[in-house]
Amino acid sequence: MFLETKGLTKHFGGLAAVSQLDISVKEGEIVGIIGPNGAGKTTVFNLITGFIRPTAGAVKFKGKEITRKKPHLIAKMGIGRTFQLAYLFPEFTVFENIVSSFNLHPKSGFWEALLKLPSYRRKEREILEQSEEILHLLGLEDVKHVLGKNLPHGHQKLLTMARALAIKPQVLLLDEPIGGMSLEEVKYAMTVIEKIRSKGITLLIVEHNMRIMALCDRVIVINFGNKIAEGSMREVRQNKEVMKAYFGREDAA
Ligand SMILES: Nc1ncnc2c1ncn2[C@@H]1O[C@H](COP(=O)(O)OP(=O)(O)OP(=O)(O)O)[C@@H](O)[C@H]1O
Ligand SMILES: [Mg+2]
Repeated sequence: MFLETKGLTKHFGGLAAVSQLDISVKEGEIVGIIGPNGAGKTTVFNLITGFIRPTAGAVKFKGKEITRKKPHLIAKMGIGRTFQLAYLFPEFTVFENIVSSFNLHPKSGFWEALLKLPSYRRKEREILEQSEEILHLLGLEDVKHVLGKNLPHGHQKLLTMARALAIKPQVLLLDEPIGGMSLEEVKYAMTVIEKIRSKGITLLIVEHNMRIMALCDRVIVINFGNKIAEGSMREVRQNKEVMKAYFGREDAA
């Protein structure tokens, strides 16, 4: 299995935010995680990416256990993420925000940088080229020189995806990528997510907005930290427990 959690559990004091959660994601899949507010979705992402440590259970990536590894090491192994709230440098332009995300790959040594050796200049050029590619992939060319803080909300969300792509992830975890977007922005962001998938990147997406589910091969529903259903969108929509947890009623929405 490409990415897998087994018995993943996180307690905050007396609260079981995530309980005995088993998730499996195959390479190339888009898997959605849905569930009501406070269900534990963001906590799952924080556990997978090493931002918090589990009370119990394990996370495996490409067969290797990564539980309790530091976030930057997990990122380096190929697991990228975005945050629920747009996370960017407000005083940097869009392009600078993307370029600065590449420092997760500090392949250049101190002397190399100080002396501006040809090898350093080559790496610098590569980063600029790759940043242009990401800018193009996300369709952010028109706002390349706009400061982060002056971007509309939808563009800020896209920029956080752009920044996450800089680590060259094999799997990307998106936490509410279309949250708070207008319908037009949602439609556009969904085409961007499709493009990211077509680059061979596996996706795990947390979202409240059910529109996103049109992109997902499979959906996992969690409530109070427990998995309550899993399957195609059609299958989970017919699940009574899901309807009760998600919509507060038992008939399908
Ligand atoms: N650092 C923390 N300390 C204590 N409790 C926390 C912490 N982080 C999350 N929780 C609690 O764990 C539960 C799950 O939170 P989480 O943020 O994972 O939910 P979520 O499904 O992402 O919700 P939302 O849809 O609102 O983003 C909540 O009850 C939350 O209050
Ligand atoms: Mg959340």
